[in-house]
Amino acid sequence: MSFSRRQALTMIGGAIAAPSAFGVTRALAQNQNATPLLVQPARAEIMPGFITKGLVSTRPDGPPPVLRMRQGHAFTAHVKNGTEDYTAMHWHGLRIPNDMDGVPYLTQFPIAGGETFDYLYTPPDAGTYWYHPHCMTMEQMARGLTGVLIVEEPENPGFDADIALNFKDFRLGRDGQFIDLWTARGAARTGTFGTVMTANWTVDLVEDAPAGGLVRLRVAATDTARMYRLFLPNATGHVIALDGHPLATPMALPTREEDALPLAAGQRVDVALRMPDGEGEIVEVMSDAPGGPRRMARLRATGSSLHRNLAELEPLPANAISEPDMANARLEEFVFGWSPQGDAPNNGFCGTLGYTFWSINRKPWPGDAATGTGPLATFKRGETAVLRLRNESPNAHPIHLHGLTFRVIASNQRAVSSNWTDTALLQKGETVDVAFVADNPGDWAFHCHVIEHQKTGLAGYIRVL
Ligand code: C2O
Ligand code: CU
Ligand code: CU
Repeated sequence: MSFSRRQALTMIGGAIAAPSAFGVTRALAQNQNATPLLVQPARAEIMPGFITKGLVSTRPDGPPPVLRMRQGHAFTAHVKNGTEDYTAMHWHGLRIPNDMDGVPYLTQFPIAGGETFDYLYTPPDAGTYWYHPHCMTMEQMARGLTGVLIVEEPENPGFDADIALNFKDFRLGRDGQFIDLWTARGAARTGTFGTVMTANWTVDLVEDAPAGGLVRLRVAATDTARMYRLFLPNATGHVIALDGHPLATPMALPTREEDALPLAAGQRVDVALRMPDGEGEIVEVMSDAPGGPRRMARLRATGSSLHRNLAELEPLPANAISEPDMANARLEEFVFGWSPQGDAPNNGFCGTLGYTFWSINRKPWPGDAATGTGPLATFKRGETAVLRLRNESPNAHPIHLHGLTFRVIASNQRAVSSNWTDTALLQKGETVDVAFVADNPGDWAFHCHVIEHQKTGLAGYIRVL
């Protein structure tokens, strides 16, 4: 789907034309089983002792809820915009129809203040995903509008508890109020980091879990810039899924800082762990941080021991994703780097930061499909695509593709685990090849998930016919 420039301008001017593209979802607005999500201003105590104003959530006083849906079952979110800015909601990692993907001007018009949009889809893959706006992305995400999205397997693999941790920074001053959400200096480099690191909007969160029980811990890195580095110093367990998808062979749990698992902006990890037997005993969830390791959360054992054993867990069933046909793959190369344009404004899909610092193939994307920019690459439906992603900048870039799930098949710097993912981390100087079958038609946003990079040129889209 694409929109003419005139339609787009009408939209930005505030008057919503009635494009036929909206017809389908509007008709579903009466669905009684819809999950209401009211995007609204919020306030909460993020720094102990201070109430932070100017947050954005889908609740007035806390983080957006964990959304739970079932694999293969239809889900409807009734998103209402209760703010004065535009918004649009994206379901990161879900392979759903293009018109439900939530990308302004590429798949829908932005949702104006007071307006609603119904997202209806059936998640095909189980696992840990997340949701966030794709319009005014920097402002709304930095102010808190990011939530964990869980697609449950048809059967519980045997856990006693399921705990989601949403890792996110906030840029707050000493008085607990927002300072500049980002800086041009940060945007032109590695991104602007927050001053307060939180899990579920809480510093050093405490969560109860049954003593001696088996816990599925899901961690989502939803910050606009920060790459967390996860380790659990006194935990027993293993890593069972990355970026939503089960690992064929579970990975050792990182327990030492040196072995910490990088979780770049947009990435997720599922950990299976066994709680200690003694009531009150703690499992620490840590991340590396500039000033030294930070405790993000504590899991506290409660009750008398369930005496479970990790070996009792069923392996997670694999999601049914088409295997790339490497013998007939078509290669497209991309290079990510700086842009010479600096001060030129860039629309970054929807809502500008006013700068252009980054580029794909040496061209910054002007920022929306309405300006007539074509796709970065086009694949025929069913074709196997290999994207060679080359980072020629000194900064790390978590590169994300919407609507399609790919395997990382090679890197010039490391052995790759070839798990399915939607967000590939490119370190300084790294070239990574990813492969997928182009089996989901539409225009799919393709961008760095450091939001300041995305919004200043490091973005575009890929078309599947
Ligand atoms: Cu999670 Cu286009 O992003
Ligand atoms: Cu996405
Ligand atoms: Cu980047």
